[in-house]
Amino acid sequence: MADNDTTKDAAEYGIGIPVPRHPFFLKGLDHVDWGMKNRLSRIFSPKSGNTVMLAFDHGYIMGPTSGLERMDLSMPPLIEYADCIMCTRGALRSIVPPTSNKPVSLRYSAGTTVLTDLNDECLIDIEDAIRVNASALAVMVAAGSRFEAKTIANLVRTADLAAKYGIPALGVTAVGKELTRDARYLSLACRVCAENGATFVKTYYCESDFEKVTATCPVPIVIAGGKKLPEDETLELAYRAIQQGASGVDMGRNVFQAGHPVAMIQAIRAVVHERRSPKEALDLYQTLQHAKP
Ligand code: 5RP
Repeated sequence: MADNDTTKDAAEYGIGIPVPRHPFFLKGLDHVDWGMKNRLSRIFSPKSGNTVMLAFDHGYIMGPTSGLERMDLSMPPLIEYADCIMCTRGALRSIVPPTSNKPVSLRYSAGTTVLTDLNDECLIDIEDAIRVNASALAVMVAAGSRFEAKTIANLVRTADLAAKYGIPALGVTAVGKELTRDARYLSLACRVCAENGATFVKTYYCESDFEKVTATCPVPIVIAGGKKLPEDETLELAYRAIQQGASGVDMGRNVFQAGHPVAMIQAIRAVVHERRSPKEALDLYQTLQHAKP
């Protein structure tokens, strides 16, 4: 039984002082649950509002991609600089030190490779996602492809399961040979993801009207990097995407295939979190190339 004799009389009632409110910093997500907000606040910086996610899930469809031949060697030095890592459970368990303590956007849909039809995907077990402490579940959505219905159903199922446990669902808009990467298509694909329950959306930057893609998506957008570009162009791409309303990047090849990957991720951070110009970020990239590890 609690001892009541020595209890100090309660006096600090703060009468007249309004209860502090905590508006959430990510767009469209004021009304999600506490656990989901907590996970999102580990992925996105509450200070800048943005994130630098490091994607190295390519092997699940492409096999040993350039830069990921020995993930155990190439990824750990980069993980240190990422706000969140995006990978498969296989990579997570085999090469990511659990002590790295980074939020994980787990590749949650899988099923086909570049050798056959992409996007005919299934979902992994929610219990396994929870077991590896996933902070987001990433699911491919191939709007406009012959796998549209299946991939949207996968997202819907994931959003339901993820919401049950307070885990954000990340809708990843697929691009394929038959899908045009323009603002009209990307707006449709992102909006479809958001309306079907994605907590945030991963898509591609497009040269024209990208701000219409971000404006019409009610939840945050992060951009993939796509095929390897020269480093200055990657920094320009990230800069423009952030200026035009993206909430961060989820990049792979343009980081781990860069001439100096560790310098590159830091230069991208400068653009995404500090809104440094592409020129300043390129200078930083060049300076950091010579830094001792
Ligand atoms: C594939 C993905 C990849 O993670 C994505 O393409 C990011 O990598 P990159 O910057 O190399 O394009 O989601 O579905």
